[in-house]
Amino acid sequence: MKKIEVIKSILGEHYLQAPQNQSAEAFAPTNIALVKYWGKRNPELNLPVTSSLSISLDDKGAKTTFSIHDNSQDIITLNKQVIDPASSFAKRLTEFVNYFRGEGEYYFDVNIEANIPVAAGLASSACGFAALVQVLNKLYGWSLSKSSLSVLARLGSGSACRSIWDGFVEWHMGLRDDGMDSHGLSIKETWPELCVGLLIMQDKEKSVSSREAMQRTVVTSALYSGWSGKVDQDLSLMKNAIKHKEFELLGKTAESNAMTMHALMLSAWPPISYALPETVKAMQKIWQLRKEGLDLYFTQDAGPNLKLLFLQKDLSVIQENFPHVEVVRPFSK
Ligand code: PMV
Repeated sequence: MKKIEVIKSILGEHYLQAPQNQSAEAFAPTNIALVKYWGKRNPELNLPVTSSLSISLDDKGAKTTFSIHDNSQDIITLNKQVIDPASSFAKRLTEFVNYFRGEGEYYFDVNIEANIPVAAGLASSACGFAALVQVLNKLYGWSLSKSSLSVLARLGSGSACRSIWDGFVEWHMGLRDDGMDSHGLSIKETWPELCVGLLIMQDKEKSVSSREAMQRTVVTSALYSGWSGKVDQDLSLMKNAIKHKEFELLGKTAESNAMTMHALMLSAWPPISYALPETVKAMQKIWQLRKEGLDLYFTQDAGPNLKLLFLQKDLSVIQENFPHVEVVRPFSK
């Protein structure tokens, strides 16, 4: 099944209808997976091999504004800089928007403000596409449910389907070929003491995209057959940890899941490693601090940066040990 067929069936009579408003704005938080999505059963529709579970990062994310204008092409601005229309960033965005605009005679001023480094394994495409579908929903007046918006966001970038919600979110893998049952759903539990620390080692664009790395892993890693079982186990442990507020279980499960995902990448051919020497040094420091009794864990995505997981009570010790850490409290509101 093609993306366009899924889009048509979600939008129904609204498909290719003219915008109802001149402009619209939406914000979506970025999300960090505690149990990762790594591998697609359908690359065209971004349908995953497993379910996954994430936490949204409060006010860290992307605010996107669309306004219709009279120019003969879209003008995309990211953090106040106009983006080259020939860049992969602009092409990916325009290609997605064209599914909804069709051959329409109108173009947009697209203004994106992201307060996280773009394309450095900080899930910028996740909040980007989640904000985008919500802006389009307002602009065109579709009035779609959150689950339908989540399906649309998934078509832009898999992990974006989780950024439609705040807090903990599970992306249910679904079973259908058209992917209508493959979307995020909010997990009601909150955890006010929980902190996520962003340890940025590098904020440049990554050398291998997560899309490419994922496919290469699925196709070439001899270890990939064990991934689905590992995720099933970790999902059940993680849900228990969240339900009973067992921080050690949450941290251990998240770190072990991330390390397994990176082990899969190391076993792919050609091998993929996102770690920099600073990444490995930080990991060793975390393991040492933990040995000394600190409740500190981490997770790592498709980039060299680490996300620390700890509780509010340890905030000052963490800040002493990692002076550049940027701390987010996902449930502070
Ligand atoms: O949605 P993508 O293509 O950006 O892939 C995201 C992959 C990871 O961030 C590494 C894992 C995840 O579940 O978010």
